[in-house]
Amino acid sequence: MANPDSQTQAELSQDQLKALVGQAALQFVVPGEIVGVGTGSTVNKFIDALASIKDQIKGAVSSSVASTQRLQALGIAIFDANDVDRLSVYIDGADEIDHHGNMIKGGGAALTREKIVAALATRFVCIVDESKLVQTLGKFPLPVEVIPMAAKRIAQQFAAMGGKAQVRLKDRQPLVTDNGQMIIDVTGLQIVDPLAFEAQVSQWPGVVTVGVFAFQKAQICLLGTAHGVEKLTF
Ligand code: 5RP
Repeated sequence: MANPDSQTQAELSQDQLKALVGQAALQFVVPGEIVGVGTGSTVNKFIDALASIKDQIKGAVSSSVASTQRLQALGIAIFDANDVDRLSVYIDGADEIDHHGNMIKGGGAALTREKIVAALATRFVCIVDESKLVQTLGKFPLPVEVIPMAAKRIAQQFAAMGGKAQVRLKDRQPLVTDNGQMIIDVTGLQIVDPLAFEAQVSQWPGVVTVGVFAFQKAQICLLGTAHGVEKLTF
């Protein structure tokens, strides 16, 4: 997909690349249906683009309070996940994506609802700029939503794997997620088998959601690059 603009992609900022992939994601929105919507600065570009075709869709299932507010402000109807049997598509960003469509997500602390909405969807379309494409997941600190009383024990379990966990703060206090829980961010991991890793960590008592998306991996990635929007299919 070539950039319609005459400006070369090399001159585009990361913000402009996010806008390009956000706009490109519109092609996967099915007219007359409800679309699954993720969270983050890239998805915000998609939401802004979605407003231009809002009369052609029924509405959205949202993955966070922040996205819900943005969608509603633009006049897009919000549906509860429990009122939907299936979504044809879920569109979201990622903090990292590998060449198989496995991702690290949760930089915006919305990973739990993101995984829930992604699980409802037949197709996950991931929208990222090329800085997010990696060989092996783990350079980005892995977000894990946890029940607060389990944070120390979970940190010890990650330490035994060679990781270092830190409670995410906001205004110098532990950040509280939309679900009333906390986030730990884990550095020092090399996640060579994302499916096995996600299965293992998800079983630890007190883990609400681990930010590895391998069971709910992307089927398509729209990658904003210096040469335009590239489509990767997994
Ligand atoms: C939020 C997420 C986001 O998709 C991820 O952090 C990427 O965000 P951005 O588009 O702002 O870089 O997982 O929980």
